[in-house]
Parts: sequence; structure tokens; C-alpha cells
Amino acid sequence: MAIIFHEKNKIFTLHTKNSTYQMKADAYGFLIHLYYGRYTEGTMDYLLCYADRGFSGNPHDVGEDRTYSMDVLPQELPCLGTGDFRNTAIVVKNADTSYGCDFRYRTHRITKGKYALPGLPAVYAEEKEAETLEIDMEDPATKMQITLFYGVLPKLDIITRSARIKNAGTGKVYLEKALTACLDFVGGEYDLISFYGRHSMERNFQRIPIAHGSQVIESRRGTSSHQYNPMMILAERETTEDAGSCYAMSFIYSGSFKGEAERDQYNQTRVLLGLSDSLFSYPLEAGEEFWLPEVALTYSSKGLAELSQNLHRCFRTHLCRGKYRDLARPILLNSWEASYFDFNGEFIYQLAKQAADLGIDMLVLDDGWFGKRDDDNSGLGDWTVNEAKLGESLGSLIQRINALGVKFGIWIEPEAVNEDSDLFRAHPDWALTIPGRNPVRARNQLLLDFSRKDVADSIFDSICKVLDQGNIEYIKWDLNRSLYDCFSRNTEDQGRVMYDYVLGVYDFLERLGKRYPNILIEGCSGGGGRFDAGMLYYTPQIWCSDNSDAIDRVRIQYGTSFGYPASSVAAHVSAVPNHQNGRVTPFHTRGITAMMGSFGYELDPGTLSDEEKQNIRAQMAEYRKYEKLIMQGLYYRLTDPYTQEVGAWEFVSEDQSEALVNAVMLEVHGNMTQNYLRLKGLQEGCMYQEEASQKVYPANALMESGIPLPVEFGEYHAYQMHFIRIK
Ligand code: GLA
Repeated sequence: MAIIFHEKNKIFTLHTKNSTYQMKADAYGFLIHLYYGRYTEGTMDYLLCYADRGFSGNPHDVGEDRTYSMDVLPQELPCLGTGDFRNTAIVVKNADTSYGCDFRYRTHRITKGKYALPGLPAVYAEEKEAETLEIDMEDPATKMQITLFYGVLPKLDIITRSARIKNAGTGKVYLEKALTACLDFVGGEYDLISFYGRHSMERNFQRIPIAHGSQVIESRRGTSSHQYNPMMILAERETTEDAGSCYAMSFIYSGSFKGEAERDQYNQTRVLLGLSDSLFSYPLEAGEEFWLPEVALTYSSKGLAELSQNLHRCFRTHLCRGKYRDLARPILLNSWEASYFDFNGEFIYQLAKQAADLGIDMLVLDDGWFGKRDDDNSGLGDWTVNEAKLGESLGSLIQRINALGVKFGIWIEPEAVNEDSDLFRAHPDWALTIPGRNPVRARNQLLLDFSRKDVADSIFDSICKVLDQGNIEYIKWDLNRSLYDCFSRNTEDQGRVMYDYVLGVYDFLERLGKRYPNILIEGCSGGGGRFDAGMLYYTPQIWCSDNSDAIDRVRIQYGTSFGYPASSVAAHVSAVPNHQNGRVTPFHTRGITAMMGSFGYELDPGTLSDEEKQNIRAQMAEYRKYEKLIMQGLYYRLTDPYTQEVGAWEFVSEDQSEALVNAVMLEVHGNMTQNYLRLKGLQEGCMYQEEASQKVYPANALMESGIPLPVEFGEYHAYQMHFIRIK
């Protein structure tokens, strides 16, 4: 039994293989958090301490007991309105315009299997793999109701949370804040690990002590964003990659989000994650419901590597869906860095011919094939093939490419519109703009109001008409700006638009996936601007960054690896000097960096020498050889590329029979020091043979002292070593 309810003291215990989560509906009906951490039996209500504390008020129904305060007690879903002055998860503006809610336990249900969410992405499981706990609570004064959902996946060490709020009262209320998950700790000292960035430099690692006051990570951009990622790790001060307690919270949602971490007046730590409350004021008429997007939680007592592996396994096997979830992904040649907007059908055909010659599986026609689109100032929204530019129909181009034995994929940006487009001229009111105010442009484009079904439906139809023109086997779904001017002509409550927009995007993706089950959809938002667990439900891989420079990518992919599996990271080899930063790196190094995910090329092979082409063939053979290990192996970070001279990572098969070690030299110096790479995850006491050199090494020594890396002249060398267990 993963979920146990102790009737006498109303304690709920959630067990996974290695962790335990516990809470209690106390005498007043408050849902008090008791414990989350390493697996344990027993009840942890002994942790609760009560004292009369100044300026921390007491709920009325506790009578004269001045030791009972919601300002101090650890809670499952802290609400504004109970006397808690810390960050709270829920803020309700009631029908009488008062603020506050006070949910008390009513009843609960424990069922087999994992709950699903209507219109929202969520972890899924077979009935035997999971259990669900639903706890019903109600505010007696307003009749607002909330049902808390807990999904327990014992084998995966994952606990998920979501909630449904219902206005069971009579008047219209507004949700002003709705965060899904809360972790309350009565003691301990924690660091917050989060991931900040910018376009072309996403998911930089930051680790800071949680201090008095609030630390907030947030996207107010309507997407999960390049700037912050909806993934937080809470780690004890001493926790490292290989040891110590840590917790991950990952928001399975692709819009604005907020994560708050706070050390309170009694040195207790609270961390919350959920929807951003910026531009959020969600109306609920009497009888209406609202779903809080899911947060996945995992705990490890063995450090950050295992924590990441827990998320990787869960997202790869229980969040990603569709035909390509477990299949080898096609190796792509993408036209973007080969030609940008400057191509015709013949050029694309020639690229495909090169792809065929090299053995590349698929040619992807990126931006510029539709409407009037020879630069990024016009055409978005006009999803009709520009046959004049191609010099032929899309169907005929695809047929010619398929005849070469090469698959065909195409780029789209369904949410966007240029003012210079037929669509905008016909339907200016379909764009998110505020009447009477000039909109903010970004990349000279606006966004369509995907909170409106009629708008999304029309785009859906025009895109399907394109997809029906030939054998299209892949889509790159892009989004190249943040949401602004969030005004919908469809509602009087603009505080709902951001959320409804995301649900509109999800609905579109769901319908697209259902109608074209054989198409692989890759997510993208100016690279990694919407790299989140929500998108992974619809797109099993995401273009990790517009920055394809191998050295920057080592750091970007390092940050990404904390929360997301390698199978979700689209990574391509591009030309040098690199188009984003001008850096020149060896071809071999670019290949090794791109072999941290779903592999491909972003260049014009027509410009390469025969020797370089031969290198591509050999590189692809290497990738295919290691692909399963890369996609499904346990991922270990071997170094910290922010502080060390080498960026290194390793994939180890679950049965520990093989390991692939990758190392990229980030720096070179005179009289260079010797770098040793300490391997991880090998089977203790065994011997491993490195395939290329045939040298045999003891696993314990490889993990204890490491393996020396060559010292070479010149910048950015890279090494790949394949170790096979021999006894
Ligand atoms: C975004 C993507 C790129 C490319 C361009 C096309 O920036 O991230 O890979 O598709 O759009 O305009």
C-alpha cells in the first residue's frame, strides 16, 4: 500500500520506494504537513511544537489556546485568511470582496491508479503503478471547496500534487493566487537551486542559501521562459551530487509560474510552486471549478544525481507520450542555419540530397516556407505554402525528398501573427492587443488569442491543410516572443487570459497529436524558452537553445540536465565559426556535445569538404551506437562546468554493464594541470574495459581516483570513452 490512512489520528502516509510523505487532518480540520524525506515507518506528529508566540494569531475555534497558530504550523496548502503571514498558496477574493479562505478537512478517497487532469498535462501511470489520494476540504463561511490530489508512484519515487477549486457558494469569486505545492520544513538549513538565463543562454545553475525573507523565481511572460525555469531543488547545505538530502519540485505547466522560498521568523523553511499571480485574477461563478496544474515532487537522500535521475525516469516514461516516446529519434538536418529565409524548393531538395548522401534520416524545412516570409517581419499567421518561393507545391517537394529515402519535417509557429499578414488584416481582433493602445512588438510580431477557441480552431484548420499536403513526419513547434498585452475580446475578466491561453495551446497540441499520431512534434520557443515538463507531455523533445555553440551548450545542457532527461534535449552540430557567438570549436567536440540528446545537424553540408562529410558519417554511426544508452541510461554530471576546466558527463546503463563518458575541455592554459575525471555509477568491485584503448580499469579506482584526461595543445578538445564491464 503506497497510501495509508490512520483513522484514529487522521494521519495520511504516502510511501514511495525510498521516501515517505506524511500529513494530518488535525482536531480543527487543518491539514498539517508532518514529514517529507527518507523512507520511514511511524508517525511524525511528535515534530509539532506549540508555544504562545507574539503577533502570530490564533484561529477562533481553538478557543483560548494561544499556542495554536497557522503562522507557525507546517501546512499542506497554506491559505491567506487563516492567520498565516508567510507566503501562501491560495488567495481568494470572495463574492463580498473580502479576501481570504479557510479550508478544513471534510473527507477523502484513496484509489488505485493515477488521477488525470482535464485539459492539462500530467504524469500518467498504469493502475498497478500508482495510487491516488483525494482530500476534500471546504471553507464553511463561503462554501468554497478544494480537492487536493496526490499521486504516488512508488517505484519511481515520485509524488505528484494538483488541486481542484470549486465555488460552491452563491456569488462570483476571484482566485488571486493559486500555487499547487508547498513544502514546509520545521527545521534544517536548505539551499535553493534554480535555473536562470536569457535567450541563447538558458538554464544557468544557481545555488543560494534560503535566507530570511522571500526568494522568488518567476516567469510573468506567459511562457515558462528563458529567464527562469519552473523547476526548483531544495538541498541541505552539505548535499552534493553524490550524497545528502534534496528535493525537486517541477511544475508541469508551460505558462507564467512562481516559485517562492522563505525562511520564517522561527527558522522554518517554506517552498511553494505554482501559477504566477502576475496578471492572474481568475473568476469563478457559482458552481465553476478551476484546476491547478500539477507539480511533480521527488526526494533523494543520495544527492543531486539520483534526484535528477528520478525526474528523468518519470518524465521519459510517464509524462512523454506517443510513438516516439521510446523509439530512436530521426537524425535531423535542419535548414535554419544552412539558409535562414533565403532558399527555394531546389535548395531544400539539394540539402535533402546531401542528407541522403550522408545517411541523415530527415530534412527539416524551417521558417520561411509560407505566406510572405522572406524575413522575420511578415507572414506569420498565413499558413499557406508559398509555392512561388518554393517553385513547386509542398507535396511535390516532399515526394522528391522522400524518393531520396529522406523523411520530411516542417517548422510552424501557430500562436504568432505579423501585422503584415493577410490573417491580421482580416482579423486584427484575433491578436492579443489592448483596444486603444499600441501593442508591444517583439521580433516584429504579435500573438494570437489562443484563449479563444474560434481563433485556435481557425489556425488548426489552416495548419492541418498544410500537414495534409504530403508525408510530413515531424513538426518543430516554435514560439518567438513572450505574451504581452494580454487582452482578450472574449471576456470581461482579463485576469483569466494567461491561463486560458496555455490551455488553448495544450488543446491544440492534444488535437494535433491525436490527428497525426505518427508525427514527431519537437517543442521550441526561440530555443529553450518553453523547456518545461508541461510541454514534454505533448512534445517528447525540445530544441534546447538557439545557441548551438558546443562550449555554451555544455553549460546550457548541464543546467537542463538537473530537471529533464537527455531524451528531451534536442542538440545539433552546427557550422563554425558558430553563428551565435563566433567561436570555433573542433567538429569532434561539437559532435560530443550534441550527443547529449536527440541528435542532428544545423548546417549546409554542401559547404563541407569530403573529409568533413566522412566525419559526419562516422559521427552518426557513433551516435547510433550509443543512442539507447544516451536516451535511457542513468545520467551523471561528472564536473561543474561553471567552476572547472572540463565539462564532463556520463551515461550508465541501468544494469551497469556499460558507461559512456564525455568530456569537453573548456579552458586551456600554459603548463596545463592534469585533469582526472572521476566516474560514477559503475558496479563496485568490477573491472571495466575502455573500448578504444582496450585498457582495463578497476571500477573502484575509476570512481575513486578517476581517469586522467589527455593534455593537448589547442582549445576545446573533447573526449568520449566507452567502458564495458568485463567481470
Ligand atoms: C526560432 C528557433 C530557431 C528557428 C527560428 C526561425 O528562433 O528557435 O531554431 O526556427 O526561430 O525563425
